Amino acid sequence: MNFKLTEEQKLIQEAARDFAQNELLPEVIERDDAQRFPKEEVAKMGQLGFLGMMVNPKYGGSGLDTLSYVLVMEELSKVDASASVIVSVNNSLVCWGLETFGSEAQKEKYLTKLATGEIIGAFCLSEPEAGSDATSQKTTAIDKGDHYVLNGTKNWITNGSSAEVYLVIAQTDTDKKHKGINALIVEKGAEGFEIGPKENKLGIRGSDTHSLMFNDVKVPKENRIGEDGFGFKFAMKTLAGGRIGIAAQALGIAAGAYELALKYSKERKAFGTEICNHQAIAFKLADMFTQIEAARNLVYKAACDKDNKEDYDLSGAMAKLYASQVAMDTTVEAVQIHGGNGFVKDYHVERLMRDAKITQIYEGTSEIQKIVISRSILKD
Ligand code: CAA
Repeated sequence: MNFKLTEEQKLIQEAARDFAQNELLPEVIERDDAQRFPKEEVAKMGQLGFLGMMVNPKYGGSGLDTLSYVLVMEELSKVDASASVIVSVNNSLVCWGLETFGSEAQKEKYLTKLATGEIIGAFCLSEPEAGSDATSQKTTAIDKGDHYVLNGTKNWITNGSSAEVYLVIAQTDTDKKHKGINALIVEKGAEGFEIGPKENKLGIRGSDTHSLMFNDVKVPKENRIGEDGFGFKFAMKTLAGGRIGIAAQALGIAAGAYELALKYSKERKAFGTEICNHQAIAFKLADMFTQIEAARNLVYKAACDKDNKEDYDLSGAMAKLYASQVAMDTTVEAVQIHGGNGFVKDYHVERLMRDAKITQIYEGTSEIQKIVISRSILKD
């Protein structure tokens, strides 16, 4: 496959690289320490068009392709995976879902603000007992004629307190199992909607992850996305694209750690020479470089499949599975190459190592990706 970037894609990549270096890097360690949400940085990313990258310009988006989005995710994630997950959720799970399946009124009301970054959104599927097993939703949305009454708890929600709009997956008819699930748009401030305390996390500490509680929240029927019972398919289709974004995040984390390790190995001396001259280090760099390039090919391929309107469930799952493993392996090796300094926050690689782990967990664990992949290859 030819991944030769167009001039436009190169410019977008460069813009994201500049933004990451100039705007994200300076305070990334402080934000991680304090678990501080990058509010100003998110506003600037909205101005740059990074929050509605694939959305049609008529709804305020940038009208770009998935490959451009992946390039931006990669560059942002090299420096700050907390900032990039905010971008990923808003683009892939919220804007894409609304643009593809929402009504014209929903797009006018919500998408226009989400795509410009005036507000950001959250995607609420996981529950205390329904993370991987997503059909087992306990949150209910009971049909009351012109509205639903929403009750239940959602867990580990990215953008949990900073979002203004929440796409909530809930069970309307338990007898129909996954065919009785709906996706509802819930606004912050709705009566009975409470946001729990911020989770104290291992990684992506700048992003705000919360539990959400819904106690008899009235949601108007016009806030349902798609037909009655479409909620589970909505979630699955949306997550299939989301996995490409997270795969790009994993790729960026790996590439960021590699770049830091390469630079360090050319500066740090031991046994009379720069450490890159020792095979013990040079071979590590060779492995890292090769694995990152393989991951990049899988991620770009999945993005191109989506852009070419081909099936991307399989390629997205493979990209996420492999890139997240490479992110984990590469960041561990980057810490090792840095030796004692790798264990110190100032050198950034320990943060990248902590951030890498979530890419094997959210938007479907590695085991979930293997379910998707094995079902696909075994179905014929
Ligand atoms: N596209 C369209 N439809 C799909 C689909 C897809 N990609 N995947 C499944 N479906 C449909 C199936 O066709 C089936 O519909 P029919 O009965 O009409 O044929 C229905 O959905 C149920 O499918 P399965 O029988 O395959 O369902 P399952 O219970 O075996 O589960 C699963 C499949 C792949 C394991 C799924 O549950 C899954 O993806 N789980 C992981 C959920 C997940 O990613 N959670 C992460 C939370 S979100 C998050 O992390 C966001 C964040 O904040 C960063």
